[in-house]
Amino acid sequence: MTNLPSLSQLEESVHDALNQRLKKEIIQSGGSISFSLLMDIVLYDEEHGYYTGYKEQFGESGDFITAPMISNIFTRCFLNSFKENFVHLPSSILELGAGNGQFAVDLLIAAEKNNIVIDQYLIYEISNNLVKRQQKIMQKELSNEFFSKVEWVSEVPEKFEGIIFANEFLDAFPTNIYEIKNKQIFERKVGIENNELVWNRDDIPNLYLESIIDIENLPTGYIFEYSKNLDEWLKDFFKTIKKAMIFFVDYGFCQNELFHQDRTEGTLMCHYKHHAHTNPFAFLGAQDITWHINFSHISSLAKIAGCTVSGFVSQANFLINAGALDFLSEHDPNNISDFKMQTNAFQRLTSPAEMGDLIKVIGIVKNTDASLFGFNKNDRKFQL
Ligand SMILES: C[S@@+](CC[C@H](N)C(=O)[O-])C[C@H]1O[C@@H](n2cnc3c(N)ncnc32)[C@H](O)[C@@H]1O
Repeated sequence: MTNLPSLSQLEESVHDALNQRLKKEIIQSGGSISFSLLMDIVLYDEEHGYYTGYKEQFGESGDFITAPMISNIFTRCFLNSFKENFVHLPSSILELGAGNGQFAVDLLIAAEKNNIVIDQYLIYEISNNLVKRQQKIMQKELSNEFFSKVEWVSEVPEKFEGIIFANEFLDAFPTNIYEIKNKQIFERKVGIENNELVWNRDDIPNLYLESIIDIENLPTGYIFEYSKNLDEWLKDFFKTIKKAMIFFVDYGFCQNELFHQDRTEGTLMCHYKHHAHTNPFAFLGAQDITWHINFSHISSLAKIAGCTVSGFVSQANFLINAGALDFLSEHDPNNISDFKMQTNAFQRLTSPAEMGDLIKVIGIVKNTDASLFGFNKNDRKFQL
């Protein structure tokens, strides 16, 4: 925490307002609240939330960068896979949590250039401010014909048929946090001590989690995340859609890798002006808070709802399987500055030390055949 930049005056006032609101919630709840409620308030409070408020979250001037902003190679690889899946599905795309709109813009531009028919592009986005930003960039960058295909929806459309895509959407859900003590699981909550937000622990063990997670070899003090909100949301989501191929792209692991004896502190991470740290009580409303997804759990929720997992690969493998090297080879190595920029971007997207291995792509299908384009090599579905 020592080398973090300081908050602007506006950020200070947002932090103070959220701090007051959280303390009020804690007092009204008898001394503690779940971390999930804290995360919901600081990220999605209508007036002051990190995503819903005034912030510029993305890019060099924001707090973090996501894959679609690094290079359009990312998006064009997904379009290659979507195109193969349009053989089985209507040419409709639903994007969940579209951020600054970069993925949608690059996808629709590439589709128009390559004569790939897209009938409609739906965006499901919780933040009205981001919707406005998405509308602005799309109106500016897209032809009238392609802009008219984009529609914002306030709910996942009942009986949706088509492709569903979400990048870094699942890890933006508010999560609960748990701690193991003497072979039992207790929720880690947030209370107040000396007028400061502090961690405290529930008294009652969580028997449901003890029934689905093998904690035999995990030590006392071991911390992990599990989101009740995301569970509820996914259950509804898998039920609501009718016929789809879903691509969830996120930081995460399969259960065996996630519940590893060495990962004792959990995966919670905060991002402020490109600095990563682990204190979620700092910079309220000014910083992003994320955690890593348990893809085995996502896979079992999907299967319970009658869906099938068609593939599970690292981001690097997905992009390489789906043609990233061909897109890179379109750039002329003699144009040194452009080629250097593109190879750096490719490196960032695929290097195991950066996004390549930590981010995974899971393909889930409901009521349809699917193309495995993108998942055809190095599929790790068996690890889920
Ligand atoms: C980490 S950002 C990722 C943005 C974008 N997909 C990207 O890769 O740049 C998470 C996005 O999901 C949106 N979001 C989070 N929770 C949501 C929810 N429950 N419903 C709809 N959108 C949500 C946020 O507002 C934001 O646009």
